[in-house]
Amino acid sequence: VAARLRATHAVPVRVLAADLATDEGMAACRDAMDQVRLRVAVLNAGVGSVGPFADQSRAREGRMVRLNCLAVTDLAHHALTRMRATGGGDLVIVSSAAAFQPLPRMAVYAATKAFELHLAEALAREAAPDGVRVVAVCPGPTRTGFSDALRADGGDPGRRARWPWWIPSDEPAAVVAATWRALARGRPRVATGLVARAAAAGTALPRPAVVAVADGVQRLRAATGRRRGGGEAPAP
Ligand SMILES: NC(=O)c1ccc[n+]([C@@H]2O[C@H](COP(=O)([O-])OP(=O)(O)OC[C@H]3O[C@@H](n4cnc5c(N)ncnc54)[C@H](OP(=O)(O)O)[C@@H]3O)[C@@H](O)[C@H]2O)c1
Repeated sequence: VAARLRATHAVPVRVLAADLATDEGMAACRDAMDQVRLRVAVLNAGVGSVGPFADQSRAREGRMVRLNCLAVTDLAHHALTRMRATGGGDLVIVSSAAAFQPLPRMAVYAATKAFELHLAEALAREAAPDGVRVVAVCPGPTRTGFSDALRADGGDPGRRARWPWWIPSDEPAAVVAATWRALARGRPRVATGLVARAAAAGTALPRPAVVAVADGVQRLRAATGRRRGGGEAPAP
């Protein structure tokens, strides 16, 4: 990505490798932010897990909360204070369609994404008078490395969770385009793709119905995965 940006736009690009689930990694990222005139910050790093909560590794679920919630809070705070001091900017927090409802078999992931959504929407309101635009991006399944990186059933490294064939998924470029459109229109959140838009619309239903539907979809995903080499099946 760095090479492509340098070649296409002739801009200096600095790459920082940091584990944002650690205090040192967050500090290194804050230091890197301090070395530029921060106009746009995209808080994108995130991990997930899939499978029954009690079967997951406790340490791994804790690291997920550190990355998806603590690091986002820490870096959003740093970005906002710097942007406020320098006349404004844009802050993008990448949440998920999972934010719109509790999600059995992805319980912690969905909870962390709801955290990000609420955080971003509140900050959008607070920071507007300072010229800082904040948007929560809630993508549905998107064709990145994410579903391959999901670990099923207690983090066994031999097992992967793939989006099954019947779940519609989008290209990352569509998510990016929708994000810039939402920022330009002053929207505090954007749901991208069919799944995310349906999930957002579903919040109008009674909560028990929403959770029951989410549970049904997750069970179907796990079952079709077992049959077809996706879902919570072992990696090939
Ligand atoms: N793809 C989807 O279907 C989907 C749907 C909804 C929401 N999202 C959200 O989109 C965001 C980006 O995910 P993606 O789809 O691009 O998946 P991805 O290809 O798996 O990318 C995840 C990104 O997070 C980084 N990351 C993971 N752990 C990290 C850590 N401890 N410290 C620093 N960086 C870390 C990874 O860096 P390395 O490559 O260096 O490990 C990678 O850049 C996530 O927040 C995810 O929740 C994805």
